[in-house]
Amino acid sequence: MNKQKRILTGERPTGKLHLGHYVGSLANRIKLQKELETFIIVADTQALTDNYNNPQKVRDNILETTIDNLAVGLDPDIVTFFIQSQVPSIAELTMFFMNLVTHSQVLRNPTVKYEIEQKGFNESVPFGFVAYPISQAADILVVNANLVPVGDDQKPMVELAQDVAEKFNRTYNCNVFNKVEGYYSNIGRLIGTDGNAKMSKSLGNTIYLSDSGEVLKEKINKMFTDPSRIHATDPGKVEGNPVFIYHDAFNTNMEEVADLKERYLVGKVGDVEVKAKLFNVLDKFLEPIREKRNYYDLHRDEVIDILKTGTAKVKKIGEELIEQVKEAMKINYF
Ligand code: TRP
Repeated sequence: MNKQKRILTGERPTGKLHLGHYVGSLANRIKLQKELETFIIVADTQALTDNYNNPQKVRDNILETTIDNLAVGLDPDIVTFFIQSQVPSIAELTMFFMNLVTHSQVLRNPTVKYEIEQKGFNESVPFGFVAYPISQAADILVVNANLVPVGDDQKPMVELAQDVAEKFNRTYNCNVFNKVEGYYSNIGRLIGTDGNAKMSKSLGNTIYLSDSGEVLKEKINKMFTDPSRIHATDPGKVEGNPVFIYHDAFNTNMEEVADLKERYLVGKVGDVEVKAKLFNVLDKFLEPIREKRNYYDLHRDEVIDILKTGTAKVKKIGEELIEQVKEAMKINYF
C-alpha cells in the first residue's frame, strides 16, 4: 500500500445508499482501499445544513451509512471511518477557508444550485447549506487527501477544494496542502429505474443496496424500458433503455448482454426475459452485501467501535494539520 497517499470520501447520513452510489463512488473505494490509505467521512455536520431541525434523522443514519459502506466490502482493518462533527479541526479549517472563497464562487456551484431548487428552499435556504462546499473542502483537506472518489455531481466540490488548497499555499507562501484530485467512475452516473437522470429517494426510482430479493424483483418489474415498444416482436431500442444500462453496469457476462441486445433490436426477445436476467444479476450482486449487512446489523457495537477509533485518529491528524495551518497564517501566538 502506498501509505503516503490518501483518499477521502463519504456521504451525508440521511438515508440508505443505492446502486447509484455504488457505481458513482463505492466501487472505486473498494478498488482503491488496498492501494491508498482510505478515509470515509460520515458527514453529519453537512447533513445538518438542511436537516438542522431533524437531528434524530441524522443520528439514526450514522450507523446505517457506515454499515452500507462496510457491507459493500470496505475493510475496517485498513479503512478509517470517522464522524465529521467530532473533528473540531474541520470547523476551524472551514472558518479559515471562507476567506479564500468568494461569495460569487459559492453561489455559482451548480450542484448546490440544483439542490436548493430540488429541496424547494427558495429564499429560505440556510446559509450553512449554501456554504457547505467550503466545509467539504475542509473535510477533504483535513487529512490532506490526494484523491477523492466521488460521483460526478461532486465535481464542483472537489474543484473548490483544489482552489482552496492552491490559494492557501499561495497566499501564505507555504506548502501545507497537497494537490488534490477527483476520481470518477468511468460508467458515469447511473440513471433511475424510471429513466430519470438522477436516482433519488424522492423520485422513488432507486434500488437500495439493502433491498431484499422480493423488493428487487418488484422494482425491476416496474422498470422502464423502451416506451415506444408495445409487443415483444417489435424492434426495440437499446440505447438509453434503463434495463440495458443496468445490464451494462452490472452484468459481467458480456456474451449474454450482447445476445440480449442483438435480439432486442430485432424484436426477438421480450422485456420479461431481459428483466429476469437483470434480476438474476442484481440479486447475485446484492446477496453478499446483504449477508455482510446482516452481520453488522447484529454487531452494532463493532460498528460504533470502528467509528470511535477512526474519529480519534482523524482528530489527531487534524490537530497536527491545524498547527501547520496556524503557523502558515501567523496565528501561532503561544
Ligand atoms: N457532499 C457529499 C454527498 O452529498 C458528502 C460529502 C461530505 C463528501 N464531505 C465529503 C464527499 C468529502 C466527498 C468528500 O454525498
